[in-house]
Amino acid sequence: MTAPAQPPYFEHHIFFCLNKRENGEACCADHDAQAAFERCKSQVKARGLNGPGKVRVNKAGCMDRCQGGPIAVVYPEGTWYTYVDASDIDEIVESHLQNGKVVERLLTPPHLGR
Ligand code: FES
Repeated sequence: MTAPAQPPYFEHHIFFCLNKRENGEACCADHDAQAAFERCKSQVKARGLNGPGKVRVNKAGCMDRCQGGPIAVVYPEGTWYTYVDASDIDEIVESHLQNGKVVERLLTPPHLGR
């Protein structure tokens, strides 16, 4: 039996990989992912974008795309981002999460995996 279709609870749901590896392999925590996560949360809140029907910012573990790290992904679109600094996060918030426009220059190259 198929469940009836529901509208998405969040319009955009962004996950930040915060995974830390101690063995020297690539990991997002080595690129200050925690600071980016906190920046995104604060920017979303400052713009009044947080809450049901709007935007949710969540922590995540490894998403198996470590070579492109640091990694963040926006659902339901499935848009994968690689960022460098706070201004990149601000651009993702303003362009994608607020105005629905993908930030092409920050897209994770499609071939990069773990
Ligand atoms: S450690 Fe971040 S995607 Fe794997």
